[in-house]
Amino acid sequence: MSGFQIRPAGQEDLDSLARLFAAHLDEQAGWDRLFARSRNPAFDSLRFITRSWQAGLQQFLVADDGSRLLGFIRFSIQPAAAAAPRPSRRKGSRSLTWGRLLRAASRYLLRWAERWPDSTFLTRGVTTGYLADLYVLPAARRQGIGTRLVQATLRCFAEQGIPEVYLQVVDQNQAGVEFWKKMGFVPHRHTLVHPGPS
Ligand SMILES: CC(C)(COP(=O)(O)OP(=O)(O)OC[C@H]1O[C@@H](n2cnc3c(N)ncnc32)[C@H](O)[C@@H]1OP(=O)(O)O)[C@@H](O)C(=O)NCCC(=O)NCCS
Repeated sequence: MSGFQIRPAGQEDLDSLARLFAAHLDEQAGWDRLFARSRNPAFDSLRFITRSWQAGLQQFLVADDGSRLLGFIRFSIQPAAAAAPRPSRRKGSRSLTWGRLLRAASRYLLRWAERWPDSTFLTRGVTTGYLADLYVLPAARRQGIGTRLVQATLRCFAEQGIPEVYLQVVDQNQAGVEFWKKMGFVPHRHTLVHPGPS
């Protein structure tokens, strides 16, 4: 298919995005109960998409054929677990003010927190890219739309100096597994699940 463009989602796309997102959840729910939708799916899907979009922490690209959205991708940057910043020492008068007192207290707390055996402070970590969702309408599949959405996203990450990109795919999702393989993704970590008492 040649008649589509990849572009960032705008406010006017939120309704269509919510519908695509709901369809995506329905498809995934067949393989993974974590995706089973809430009791008020249309409303919740729109609320979720609108909030994610407005917060700006996640980004959306859409494939648009001029009359409707054919697919979307949602992605974000996962910042490295940064060590607590050290407050800078300011020069000036030494009189005791509430501001000074608060800064001294926060300095003390930050030093204490840095020694706390929590993984946030234990590892330096690296900033990575995360692909949260990718969905193409069933009727528009195998026409290169998924490929173009992912390529555009990888370019966004590369432009920000982020080489490593993570995602999760359910093993039973054959199309998904094959697709990511074709895109050059390799298995890295396995999620194991116990089905519960039989
Ligand atoms: C996975 C998905 C996004 C692929 O989108 P798409 O637009 O059809 O992908 P493309 O046309 O760019 O396919 C690129 C390549 O991926 C592989 N691929 C895609 N769908 C496949 C399928 N059903 N079976 C086997 N390989 C497949 C092929 O190698 C294909 O290249 P080819 O058509 O030249 O053989 C789409 O099937 C989808 O939305 N699925 C439901 C949601 C989902 O599973 N998302 C990803 C899981 S995290």
